[in-house]
Amino acid sequence: MQKMELLRNCSLWVLPILFMILCSNGVNASHQVFMRLQSSSAFSVRKIHRTGYHFQPPKHWINDPNGPMYYNGIYHLFYQYNPKGSVWGNIVWAHAASTDLVNWIRLEHAIYPSKVFDKYGTWSGSATILHNKPVILYTGIIDANNTQVQNYAIPADLSDPLLRKWIKPDNNPLVVADKSINKTQFRDPTTAWLGRDGLWRILVGSVRRRRGVAILYRSRDFMKWIKAKHPLHTSAKTGNWECPDFFPVSTNHTEGLDTSFDGENVKHVLKVSLDVTRFEYYTIGTYHTKKDRYIPDDGMTDGWKGLRLDYGNFYASKTFYDPLKNRRVLWGWTNESDVVPTDAKKKGWAGIQAIPRKLWLDPSGRHLVQWPIEELEILRKQKVELRNHNLDKGEMVEVQGITAAQADVEVTFSFSSLKNAEEFDPSWADLYAQDVCAMRGSTVQGGLGPFGLLTLTSENFEEYTPVFFRVFKAQDKYKVLMCSDASRSSVRNNIKIYKPSFAGFVDVDLSDKKLSLRSLIDHSVVESFGAGGKTCITSRVYPALAIFDEAHLYAFNNGTETITIETLNAWSMNKPER
Ligand code: FRU
Repeated sequence: MQKMELLRNCSLWVLPILFMILCSNGVNASHQVFMRLQSSSAFSVRKIHRTGYHFQPPKHWINDPNGPMYYNGIYHLFYQYNPKGSVWGNIVWAHAASTDLVNWIRLEHAIYPSKVFDKYGTWSGSATILHNKPVILYTGIIDANNTQVQNYAIPADLSDPLLRKWIKPDNNPLVVADKSINKTQFRDPTTAWLGRDGLWRILVGSVRRRRGVAILYRSRDFMKWIKAKHPLHTSAKTGNWECPDFFPVSTNHTEGLDTSFDGENVKHVLKVSLDVTRFEYYTIGTYHTKKDRYIPDDGMTDGWKGLRLDYGNFYASKTFYDPLKNRRVLWGWTNESDVVPTDAKKKGWAGIQAIPRKLWLDPSGRHLVQWPIEELEILRKQKVELRNHNLDKGEMVEVQGITAAQADVEVTFSFSSLKNAEEFDPSWADLYAQDVCAMRGSTVQGGLGPFGLLTLTSENFEEYTPVFFRVFKAQDKYKVLMCSDASRSSVRNNIKIYKPSFAGFVDVDLSDKKLSLRSLIDHSVVESFGAGGKTCITSRVYPALAIFDEAHLYAFNNGTETITIETLNAWSMNKPER
């Protein structure tokens, strides 16, 4: 990519990051480090933007989900946590357990710095069920120079159903960087998978001269790991790869496959989290088991413009195979858009986990599909409905009778013709969807769209977060843009609060002239699933007026084509027991 183009494409992301870096005391694993604040406990925990049904600890900072797994009737979630403050630092593996992925019991920290092989940090990693016993692989930081090694931990007592205590045996570390590897960019081991040759395999994320790398290791006994000659995969100019995730998906059903599955009708997915841009991308491709190489399918974009699991605030995600419900489940960290460190201190917390999502391959084979796990529906309480309600140009309808700040909304829109779709300007072809959305937001009148939901809206419309579609006519096809626009989400005007109009294109067939949308609205998060989960976008927002009972929800249409709300079901959501 030419320098200018690179700068233009990344300016939206990189400049705020550079700005953040310059304003902080340093950076570690691309998290800002605020020396004083990182060990400054919260005085109190502000209720205002805390979520009702998303996963978050009672206070302080969280980031990546770690080692999610199902074992002996219990789901486990570990996560990067700062026990001492509301900004990144002092990271331990906090632990929670659940029987339904909705209600969680908080447990004592599972892994924390204590040994020579992790004295300076216990960073991200994964769980593997090895001969019916769980093993965690995680990154240990061994010195003040940020040297990274890969360690393991095992449950101290397998008869404890909650697996409260974990042991880090003395034969750690299992994997250290050889000379060819940058040892400060060498982390986040994946769940292991077993090959036909009886060898276990893992990936460790890294970088070599701006080329993102998934380094492959093999082991017969899980203790002695040997680096493969070639990485599983690399991609130029993507920068350091954090939190790689590699797993099989079925080409003919939506059920999940065990990470070691090796059989017919399978594709593989490689997802990486990009340290430089702070978003993730994935490709779908073929895992050549004999050569131990992964090759993305033709047409897949293997870089910054690749497919994303979520086009919004969603990072360091990780999947696991759930044998109980035979599905693959995705967890992702949804970081704050408000990166003002003193705000974090005042709030007393930062970071939440997205609602876990079932994930599978779209029948087209071109992208993945995600949907909130079905268990979430146990939290639905009173419901309101709309049926066959028309919205002419400029009209909206309020969805009344539910708690609009803590809700689950599912809506199917239909229209009678595509002829009013706006022209897709060919000069936009190289832009990110987000750039198009920034130009043609929810208020710029269109043809077919913008139509969608207006979430977290204040009484007099000073604040609102629209989630919507705009349909464009490109040369030989229609292009559906989905946006989640935080630009008017809050009257608070601190330039350090990031308020982008996140967006993605939706690969959907419009022949039935319908588009569906589901949004999970939860005080400071709007998590949306377009066209049954083909495109997902999560926004973090901080309304000052549209809070608690003062928040409103509408469906709207700002296009010339009349839109029909065929069905709209909306529920107030309960708080799980935490
Ligand atoms: C991703 C990440 C990982 C690292 C962890 C540290 O957010 O930077 O690469 O292991 O966070 O907390």
